[in-house]
Amino acid sequence: MKLTPHQQDMLDGKHGKGKAMAMRIQAAIGEGFMAKRMVPISRAHVALSAQEADVWFAEKLLAAGAECAIPPTVNPGYSVNCFKGLGLLSPEGEEVMRRTHEAYKGLGAVLTYSCTPYLFGNIARYGEVVSFSETSVSVYANSVLGARTHREGASSSLCAAVTGYVPEYGMLLDENRFGDVLVTVKAKVESDFEFALLGLTGAAIGDGVPVFQGLAPRMSTEALIALGTQLNVSGVCDKYHIIGVTPDAMSLEQACGGKRPEREVTITDAHLEEALRAYSISPGDSVDFVMLGCPHYSYEQVAAVAGLLRGQKAKAQIWILTSGAVLDLARSTGLAEELAALNVLLAPGTCVDQRACFGHLAGGCGVTDSPKCAYYMGVFDVRLAVRDVITCIRWAKLGRPEK
Ligand code: F3S
Repeated sequence: MKLTPHQQDMLDGKHGKGKAMAMRIQAAIGEGFMAKRMVPISRAHVALSAQEADVWFAEKLLAAGAECAIPPTVNPGYSVNCFKGLGLLSPEGEEVMRRTHEAYKGLGAVLTYSCTPYLFGNIARYGEVVSFSETSVSVYANSVLGARTHREGASSSLCAAVTGYVPEYGMLLDENRFGDVLVTVKAKVESDFEFALLGLTGAAIGDGVPVFQGLAPRMSTEALIALGTQLNVSGVCDKYHIIGVTPDAMSLEQACGGKRPEREVTITDAHLEEALRAYSISPGDSVDFVMLGCPHYSYEQVAAVAGLLRGQKAKAQIWILTSGAVLDLARSTGLAEELAALNVLLAPGTCVDQRACFGHLAGGCGVTDSPKCAYYMGVFDVRLAVRDVITCIRWAKLGRPEK
């Protein structure tokens, strides 16, 4: 890989040990992917995890004197104040989050703690080269915004934020962004939840960049978020096209770069039903809690929950994970207070895979509208049925599934 004099100086340590360390890692990645050069980025998002390995790496960069050339936004950790106030945080959990916060602050990150930076605070434009980690963020940027990013890991995007460059390969190159698999959707896919289920058919779709046809042209932003998120639960997806909707797919010809797709797949209702069965437990006799906001709920989604409750207090605790920005908005409109009285807790800046916050739910039975949530929480024995948000709220009111 050929470096510019500036990049070579970084690698040689002329800009300090921290930048050299980040550049060494990126140069190795670039060599691995046979990149010819490194190109500048204008944005970064780091999927920090507030777990030991992540903090170790960030602290190591900081100790070497690294500072971000491009201040990245960051993924959820957890709000110590919120979870300590609820009596749910161990001293160890508090300490890891404190170290995470200090390390990333020291590196110059913008501490947004959200997995929907494309809604608030870090919105890439069409064609912008960026470095985004977090599976739902990178696919949204490539597919819906038309920006260009690798599906980075937390460490590689942090290195990119430090140096301000990424090796050029994969999704940064035109030839890799065209569709390979034509997916004809014959299933009923209209609601946000049905888009999530469509995303769960990744195994049937297989490798490559899918091009969806047969979907009604009107869909919500949240539906597009759900599709990309769940495509990366059931498979691996850097980018998808929807003909007539996503910006690189105004026609099938544009989406595929004028070539014939390599494969064609048809998705039916049976595929969606099978996908739901694979990711959902069979509900038991009670619903102990509802978990929403994976990815973080938008303001509209939070408001929709209030609409579904219609002033009735839920028997089961409803958690909604969201960004600090949405929480601030909900506080300013009175929505947060209204929801708190109905047994809904708006938890800012956290993630369903934070055992430090949600370990106490292990062994319990809940319901979520997000297959990704069910998958992640299943790792620490939190069992979740997967249903649309309308059903989640109905069950929360009853404290049990309907028979
Ligand atoms: Fe966000 Fe965590 Fe889900 S980062 S997408 S809440 S697994």
